[in-house]
Amino acid sequence: MTDQQFTAYLAPEGFVHELIAELGEAVDDVYDRLVIAAGAPQPVLWADNVWLNPRFIKVESIGDAAQKLKALQRNWANYAFDLHRRSNLITEKLPHVSAKPIKFPCPLPAAPLGSWTLLENDLLLVSPACSSPYPNGAYIFEENKIDAPSRAYLKLWEILTRLQKFPKAGETCLDLGACPGGWTWVLQTLGARVISVDKAPLAPSIAALPNIEYRQQSAFGLKPEEIGRVDWLFSDIICYPERALRLIETWKKSGLVRNIVSTIKFQGKTEYDIINKLMEIPNSSIYHLYNNKHEVTWVNLEG
Ligand SMILES: C[S@@+](CC[C@H](N)C(=O)[O-])C[C@H]1O[C@@H](n2cnc3c(N)ncnc32)[C@H](O)[C@@H]1O
Repeated sequence: MTDQQFTAYLAPEGFVHELIAELGEAVDDVYDRLVIAAGAPQPVLWADNVWLNPRFIKVESIGDAAQKLKALQRNWANYAFDLHRRSNLITEKLPHVSAKPIKFPCPLPAAPLGSWTLLENDLLLVSPACSSPYPNGAYIFEENKIDAPSRAYLKLWEILTRLQKFPKAGETCLDLGACPGGWTWVLQTLGARVISVDKAPLAPSIAALPNIEYRQQSAFGLKPEEIGRVDWLFSDIICYPERALRLIETWKKSGLVRNIVSTIKFQGKTEYDIINKLMEIPNSSIYHLYNNKHEVTWVNLEG
C-alpha cells in the first residue's frame, strides 16, 4: 500500500455510501468518513475534501508527530475519527490555523492547507495538498439570522465563494423556486436586479426590498422570451432531476442566459444519467456543496 499511489477522500456527513459507490473497486480502506482508494485523485462528486498526495508517517510521540507535520508545511487541519485526545494534543503543538467562520463575500484563502489523521497511536496519514482551502472542506459561514428568510442562502454563498464569481451591481438575475427568498436576498444584497419566480409568495421582508420583481407562477410555464436576456439564471426548485434538466436545456437553447446555477435534488438514488447529460453541456461543472443535502449544484458559466 505504501508504494502504491493512492488518494484519500473525505465524504460529506451522511454520504459515505455514495462516495464508496462512486469510487467502486478502487476503495481500499474506510475510516469513518475518510475513504482511501487506489490511484490518482478522481473527480468525485461525494467528497467534501480530497487528500491529493497522502502518505503514511510513523511517529514516536505527540511531539514527534507535530515536528514531522511542521517539517512538511505550516498549516494543517486534523480529521479525527478516533484517538481524539491524542489528536488534540498534536494539534496544540501545531501553528494556529483560523477556525473563524467565513464572512461572505470574501476571497478564498491562499495558503496551502494540509490534512492529517491518526490511524494508530504511532501512525499518521498526512496530505500536504488538499482540494479544499478550508479544514475538512467545511464552508462554515458567519450566518445572518436576521435578514435571511431561510438557511438555503448558505448554498448560494458557498457556490459563489467557490467560484469566486459574484453577480454584479446592475446585472439581472432570474431566481426560479425563489420562495421564501434566501437566494433572492443574497442577489439583491450584491446589488443585482432580481426577478423571483415561485408558486408560493416571498417572505414579506424580502418582497419589500428594492430591485426585486416577483412573479407568482410555475417556473416551468415561463418562456425565456417572456423574460428576455438575463445575466444569471438561478434555480433551487424542488423537482425531479429530469425536469430540472429540461428547464436548463430550454434556457440554454434560448441563448438568453449567460450563467446558470442550479440545484439538482435527488429523491432516492443519485441520478448519474442526468448528471452525465448536464456535464455534456460545454463549460459545466458540478459540486456537492458542504451546505447541500442529498442534492448537487450544477454550474454553467459563460466561456
Ligand atoms: C428549496 S425551496 C427554495 C428556497 C430558496 N432558494 C430560498 O433561498 O429561500 C424550493 C422552492 O421551489 C418551489 N417550487 C416547486 N415547484 C415549483 C414550480 N413549478 N415553479 C416555481 N417554484 C416551484 C417551492 O415552492 C419552493 O419554494
